[in-house]
Amino acid sequence: IDKSIDLKAEIRRMCKEKDAIILAHYYTIGDIQDIADFIGDSLALARKAAETDAKVMVMCGVHFMAETCKLLSEDKIVLCPDLTAGCSLADSCKAEDLKKYKEEHPEYKVISYVNTTAAVKALTDCVVTSGNAKKVIDSFPKDEKLIFGPDYNLGNYINSVTGRNMLLWNGGCHVHEKFSVEEIIKLKKEHPDAIVMAHLECKAPILAIADIKGSTATMLKYAQANGKHEYIIATEAGILHELERTCPEATFYPVPPEVSEGGLGCSCNECEYMKKNSLEKIYNTLKYGWPEVVVDSKIAKDAVKPIEKMLSLS
Ligand code: 13P
Ligand code: SF4
Repeated sequence: IDKSIDLKAEIRRMCKEKDAIILAHYYTIGDIQDIADFIGDSLALARKAAETDAKVMVMCGVHFMAETCKLLSEDKIVLCPDLTAGCSLADSCKAEDLKKYKEEHPEYKVISYVNTTAAVKALTDCVVTSGNAKKVIDSFPKDEKLIFGPDYNLGNYINSVTGRNMLLWNGGCHVHEKFSVEEIIKLKKEHPDAIVMAHLECKAPILAIADIKGSTATMLKYAQANGKHEYIIATEAGILHELERTCPEATFYPVPPEVSEGGLGCSCNECEYMKKNSLEKIYNTLKYGWPEVVVDSKIAKDAVKPIEKMLSLS
């Protein structure tokens, strides 16, 4: 790309010319959130995808989010700036493994987190996000037998607050599983008045000490409603951009990940998949109309139903 191009201006110009909108998750880099038509958590992005009139959607997030857009708007063109932007959580549940597990538990219904492939959604009765999981699962009869996957931590949390005994898939997010309880305690000692906010993908000990637990949007909403305050944030660091932009009086302390056994550790609380999105790739995606996300029509037919069911329940 010619270095003299003003990428942000050119991206906005092409959006207008091609009747395209840019949807971005809170974990993408700040420059992308700044030029997006809409930023949100997984639930809000899915809702937006279902209702937009635009011909083209550029989904800046990860692949399952782009697939969800396509499933909800099959007549629209869904572009994904980098098709290799995957998700460790979605990868932790393969459709063939879930199919086998379902066959072993024929009397169970399957609830899947939105962080799953379309093929897994096609085997699912109802999808949830971290923003609506409790509400959606509460709508099932108390004695209904449920399998929940793939996020073990989220499923375990929902079991604990609903008194259910859902069978849990043993999957997880490599970013959220690394947040350290010790680091939160250290931060809390330095900032005793700070409110701890944690994403529901975090491990149980972190959720046990968190004051606010939920999706990225839950954290934003809480901070936006509370003005000047201090917050300790246990989720992917990209959320700080919108937190700081919309809550200028508040102070946010991101939680570092734990140090690994070898002592080296990962010094990163960022999702490398989300960070695959860049202004350069969005520019190319719009310019060439590529890469486009497609979902096999047989899979799409079954995969859209549990997403629509979730939207109707939340
Ligand atoms: P949210 O639904 O809270 O945006 O979470 C999506 C996600 O991938 C968290 O890791
Ligand atoms: Fe997936 Fe974790 Fe990245 Fe969210 S943060 S997109 S769950 S890998």
